[in-house]
Amino acid sequence: METQLLGDSLQQLEAAANLIKNGEVVGIPTETVYGLGADAANEDAVRKIFAAKGRPADNPLIVHLADFSDAVRYTSLIPPLAYELAEKFCPGPLTMIFPKNSTIPYVTSGGLDTVGIRIPSHPVMHRIIEISGCPIAAPSANTSGLPSPTSAAHVMDDMKGKIAAVVDGGQCQFGVESTVICFEGESRVRILRPGCVTRQMLLTVCREVIIDDAVLNGLSKNEKAASPGMKYKHYSPKADVVLVDSSLDKFIEYIGSCNESGVYSLIYTADADKFPYKYMTYGDGSLEQAHYVFQRLRELDECGAKKIYVRAPSNDEVGLAVLNRLIRAAEFEVIRI
Ligand code: TXA
Ligand code: MG
Repeated sequence: METQLLGDSLQQLEAAANLIKNGEVVGIPTETVYGLGADAANEDAVRKIFAAKGRPADNPLIVHLADFSDAVRYTSLIPPLAYELAEKFCPGPLTMIFPKNSTIPYVTSGGLDTVGIRIPSHPVMHRIIEISGCPIAAPSANTSGLPSPTSAAHVMDDMKGKIAAVVDGGQCQFGVESTVICFEGESRVRILRPGCVTRQMLLTVCREVIIDDAVLNGLSKNEKAASPGMKYKHYSPKADVVLVDSSLDKFIEYIGSCNESGVYSLIYTADADKFPYKYMTYGDGSLEQAHYVFQRLRELDECGAKKIYVRAPSNDEVGLAVLNRLIRAAEFEVIRI
């Protein structure tokens, strides 16, 4: 199949929306990462998403809507707390999980009775949802297991020949995927995947916010994942990733003692002057590191890196989202010195 590259003119967004209406899959920019969008209510279209990504059938897709008021059409119960959260964080990088109704097929929900709902703020995604009139199921637009795409070129790298079109809406603002939460009782939520809507931000609305154990730890062998995506190898470039949690001095000393070939480091931008080995930088504060992390992992592959030592981000707030992705990219190989 030929994959068209579309721009963001109204005419081209109409073309993208028509493809989706007709059951095709389109790569679409959002404020977090690029998504692979299809009509969430069309089973055949949704199957094409799973096929293009090589995604396990039990990993549910998030359904994207133009406005939170549309969520009642696809769910059977929305707690009052969700409306308060929506008031504050929608549109934006927050996905809330609700019991689904029969409009959402089990193919979309990965066999679960629940569905994740997100209202994206990116104007291109928003327009495509509005014009198509479809609820849009969209996982990140990478091949399953690879780093999520933050530009149209990344989507093309993974999806060329496998989907109908990619819409180029520029670089994604946040660079990591949305915060995924579920509700427990009237005033408590659980973070299943951290993102740029942080625990502190959620605490301005919810009395209690729990961070699920699986955010920073692997699941033990027979444990059931609250969020199926957490059990798979994820976000990994071709090179081996190792996360190093240490001071800069200890990090430099450690890299100096590695005598493997093809070693690159991913370090804070502020440390570049002092760093004597091959490196790329991924910014300084957590928001900047979120913006660059996936892009750099892809670029390091292009440089021919065989092994990437990443100086770990802080685990505060947005840093927790970056750490969560890097821990999985490293398949839980973390060195603490
Ligand atoms: O920012 C984002 O969320 C991006 C953009 C495209 O919107 N989408 C995204 O989708 O990251 P995906 O499929 O790559 O990741 C969705 C995660 C997976 O870990 C999945 O298991 C979890 O959310 N998830 C989705 N629906 C769920 C549900 N009903 N219950 C539990 N976890 C769910
Ligand atoms: Mg993904």
